[in-house]
Amino acid sequence: MSKLYNAGIIGTGSCLPPKIVTNEDLEKIVDTSDEWIVSRTGIKKRRVADENTATSDLATVAARRALDDAGLKPSDIDMIIVATVTPDMNFPSTACLVQANLGAEHCPAFDIEAACSGFLYGFILASQFIATGAYENILVIGAECLSKFLNWKDRNTCVLFGDGAGAAVVSRVDEKFGILSHCMGADGEGGKHLILEAGGSRKPASFETVKNELHYVQMEGSEVFKFAVRIMAKASEEAVSLAGLTKADVDFLVPHQANIRIIEGARKRLNLPKEKVYINLDRYGNMSAASVPVALDEASRTKAIKKGDRIVLVAFGGGLTWASCMLRWSK
Ligand code: ACO
Repeated sequence: MSKLYNAGIIGTGSCLPPKIVTNEDLEKIVDTSDEWIVSRTGIKKRRVADENTATSDLATVAARRALDDAGLKPSDIDMIIVATVTPDMNFPSTACLVQANLGAEHCPAFDIEAACSGFLYGFILASQFIATGAYENILVIGAECLSKFLNWKDRNTCVLFGDGAGAAVVSRVDEKFGILSHCMGADGEGGKHLILEAGGSRKPASFETVKNELHYVQMEGSEVFKFAVRIMAKASEEAVSLAGLTKADVDFLVPHQANIRIIEGARKRLNLPKEKVYINLDRYGNMSAASVPVALDEASRTKAIKKGDRIVLVAFGGGLTWASCMLRWSK
């Protein structure tokens, strides 16, 4: 279907739970050190939701903030997409819970699962409905409570992740603004390197699955790392070339925040100076689907990105998945 309208972001919001867990705090529970975590990942601290807070709670606050930023009411929303690997429950979807919390009058609502690439998958999906004129305003949210699925005795994983939510209102924007290109992909063969095995139809929850700690995230870090370094650089470049632009046209990079060394690979591939990359993983760790929208919200509110900037958004994640886009900022 041909494109009738330009789709872009007219409002952003985010929500981080207040509790901070530092690397020093983790030194007390697993055999690790601040020096190891900072030098290998760039992470210094992360936010962790309390026992009464679930993904939909963070998502709802982020969504309200994005609506305020866009000057819209919940009734103006035509669709809600929540990207998450840590839904409140198997069903109803977290998007339906958010719709009820917001009072967003019967608009369609559904979750998508593409791990850390989920927000970009959702954004690209939403932009198709805007481009065709089918809908006017779509709320896309990336929200996670990964802390609830981590084995806090496993130093390979527990130091990496954090909780949070970010939201964007995707709507029509003026010509030459908004999403200029997109690229998405998946490598299901590599999915085995990052899994949460139990609790689904293959291995339903049982005494055995709990005893064997299969309800926690398991990761082969070095395999994911090799994939991530390659794909983040490749997908960033592809977003630029698909927009018919060159690296010299890129003003800013807002990448998924998993590891500073992975981000550096993408930055160097785009020939960008360090100050043209938004980094918050030192404060929040890897928030999976929430990483890109939280970074985008902070970059917008602090004016690190300005109207007219050409921004590359890029992410990789479990699945394995990846996505990128070139976006001309319209706010
Ligand atoms: N503290 C101290 N030592 C540790 C820690 C820790 N927290 N974690 C692992 N180690 C040890 C391992 O046990 C291993 O020890 P061994 O060699 O004696 O077996 C050693 O450190 C591994 O060292 P390296 O291989 O050099 O570690 P590397 O440089 O690969 O860094 C890391 C590990 C940070 C996990 C890296 O591989 C990485 O970032 N991978 C990508 C992970 C990622 O981004 N995952 C999220 C995907 S997003 C999503 O969809 C949810």
